[in-house]
Amino acid sequence: VAEEGMAEFQARIDRDEFIEPKDWMPEGYRKTLIRQMSQHAHSEIVGMHPEGNWVTRAPTLKRKLILIAKIQDEAGHGLYLYSAAETLGVSREELVRQLHAGEAKYSTIFNYPTMNWADVGAVGWLVDGAAITNQIPLCRCSYGPYARAMTRVCKEESFHQRQGYEALLEMMKGTDEQKKMVQDAFDRLFWPALMMFGPPDSDSAHSSQNMAWKIKRFSNDELRQRFVDATIPQAEFLGLKIPEQIKWNEETGHYDFGELDWDEFWDVVKGNGISNDDRMNARNEALEDGAWVREAAAAYAEKQRAKSKA
Ligand code: 3HC
Repeated sequence: VAEEGMAEFQARIDRDEFIEPKDWMPEGYRKTLIRQMSQHAHSEIVGMHPEGNWVTRAPTLKRKLILIAKIQDEAGHGLYLYSAAETLGVSREELVRQLHAGEAKYSTIFNYPTMNWADVGAVGWLVDGAAITNQIPLCRCSYGPYARAMTRVCKEESFHQRQGYEALLEMMKGTDEQKKMVQDAFDRLFWPALMMFGPPDSDSAHSSQNMAWKIKRFSNDELRQRFVDATIPQAEFLGLKIPEQIKWNEETGHYDFGELDWDEFWDVVKGNGISNDDRMNARNEALEDGAWVREAAAAYAEKQRAKSKA
């Protein structure tokens, strides 16, 4: 029966059908989706901290309002993704416990510090830009709840990217000091942003199976290349100096950008990034600080339930 089940399942995937929570699915399909969707949700939640540090120090009220709106969106993206992951039979409490216990991954990019206002703009432009490149194909992922969550997320991501780019455009019209800050932010965050697409295809444990199941529509290297090709002209429009190793290749019609530092990547994945400890401490503090809110909400819900039974 298992073979028939697998063959029928793969035929549905090949026909580009959405798999829904109540449909039969191979255990491996369920497991890899819980793995990817929970890490995606954790990335959204931890991703609020680099920008959160700048809400009280935004240069104008307008920038503060935009940043608060963006951070609120990221929290919402996390909630959509935890809810979508719950349809696979895992509880949000368990996923959050894994994150806080340091057992779960989240995107390495959030383990780099945001040291000044140019970094906040560069995070919007580059990190949310890379996220869009990765998330648009996920709108056609074979698992229905994940694809639908991505459709909503992508609409908000374009605002995230544009506000970051516009903040940098503003600074590039400013003083030499401001221009230097933007160049420095680009030089520091561009390469870690490329690592958001995952290791090289040759090193990707999940790509072949996840592409067969149409969870992953394009390979890590394909999306990374697509992001570089879109971003370098934007950097040139900003008036930034482009790193030596990035060169337009007339033959391939793409930018060559050389080798990334994969030792650094795996080191940060293992938890040795500059900001790993800060992020985990911030997450655990937020959990403690928010305990009274959760208890009050649970007590209130209990009272309402008792009232409705009376
Ligand atoms: N940071 C941390 N871990 C990473 C990583 C990164 N940048 N890239 C890859 N990895 C991990 C994978 O999770 C996997 O480890 P695991 O088996 O323990 O899960 C291992 O490295 C090997 O990588 P693979 O290529 O085999 O893994 P995937 O097939 O899952 O591909 C991925 C990696 C492309 C990130 C894929 O998981 C994916 O598309 N995830 C959904 C998008 C996502 O999570 N984006 C993160 C940023 S979200 C964001 O920026 C939102 C914005 O609004 C702020």
